[in-house]
Amino acid sequence: MPQNRKIVLKSHPKGPVGVENFDMVTDQTGPMAAGLVCVKVDHLSIDAFIRTTLDGGGFHQSAKLGGVVPALGVGTVVESGDPAFVVGDIVTGPMCSQEYAVLPAAMCGKVDTRLGSPTAFLGALSIATGLTSYVGMKYVAKISGGETVVVSGAAGAVGSLAGQVAKLLGAGRVIGIAGGPKKCAFLVDELGFDAAVDYKAGDVSGQVSALAPNGVDVFYDNVGGEVLDAVLMNLAIEARVVLCGAVSQYENMADVRGPKNYLKIAERDASLLGFTIFHYPDKYGEATTAMADWLASGELIVHETVGTGLENFPAAVRALLDGGNTGKFLLKVS
Ligand SMILES: NC(=O)c1ccc[n+]([C@@H]2O[C@H](COP(=O)([O-])OP(=O)(O)OC[C@H]3O[C@@H](n4cnc5c(N)ncnc54)[C@H](OP(=O)(O)O)[C@@H]3O)[C@@H](O)[C@H]2O)c1
Repeated sequence: MPQNRKIVLKSHPKGPVGVENFDMVTDQTGPMAAGLVCVKVDHLSIDAFIRTTLDGGGFHQSAKLGGVVPALGVGTVVESGDPAFVVGDIVTGPMCSQEYAVLPAAMCGKVDTRLGSPTAFLGALSIATGLTSYVGMKYVAKISGGETVVVSGAAGAVGSLAGQVAKLLGAGRVIGIAGGPKKCAFLVDELGFDAAVDYKAGDVSGQVSALAPNGVDVFYDNVGGEVLDAVLMNLAIEARVVLCGAVSQYENMADVRGPKNYLKIAERDASLLGFTIFHYPDKYGEATTAMADWLASGELIVHETVGTGLENFPAAVRALLDGGNTGKFLLKVS
């Protein structure tokens, strides 16, 4: 079995995560057995949820001290103990922060390159990115024609797709919220959003009000905190606020701050709707087909930010939380 370089969690972050919280170690790739596959990891997906695994007793299943960090990835089967996979198959799965993953075959999905590139299976065709944007818009927000939709974290992986999916499902006007003029221009000029709000420029509520004077029908929130509060001030009657995530809170999960303007939900006869994609397995097939069709037709635009080198995994996690990515953040491992 090959030597395996891994990024392991050295210490739980106390506050913002930094590269000092991780170590790189090399050891032997784990033993193979029936039902397992060994995958050489090609790309890792740098996702906001990773931060929530680092605290110990975290939101998602936690990373263990000294253990690899949870991360989705795509790679190539180099040894198979399961008849469903052969050497050379390209697969996705929970590869974690390492060069070789030995994992149960049942946890891997075969990449169908007729639907998209291997990295698309970490982005537009991934459960935790593209399918999240589709299911959140279609089945949680229940978009209907002509509505005004606001998406936060709009230049990120989920948000950049969610805004486009809203349009493709018939939304009337889609407004993205992102950090900085460059990302805002990207949303409008490259992704076809109708308008963008730069939350770093301040007065988010005023900016949203100017762009959506009749109110926001759907808010697809990836950020929480002050951005959520600002949009709550601008809800239309019977608005739906979809809690997809709250990345602004992930560095301090022990003291998560809820929206102080939540009474606007009552005032506007609105609904606050949380969802977790893993509770919608019955929608994966439909969502994959729809996203693949939009990719093929060119109606869905994907943007990837690609870092290089497993050793840069800690810096990539930090960079994601600092807004260092536009679109899907990937790390090329080999
Ligand atoms: N509900 C579900 O089942 C589900 C599944 C997958 C993901 N999610 C959620 O989807 C959201 C997006 O995740 P992702 O992996 O696609 O990450 P991402 O959007 O690609 O990256 C995170 C982005 O958040 C923005 N950000 C960071 N801190 C912020 C702050 N304090 N205020 C405002 N914006 C901030 C940054 O962009 P700027 O430059 O614009 O600041 C950064 O690029 C996360 O909340 C995640 O938990 C939910």
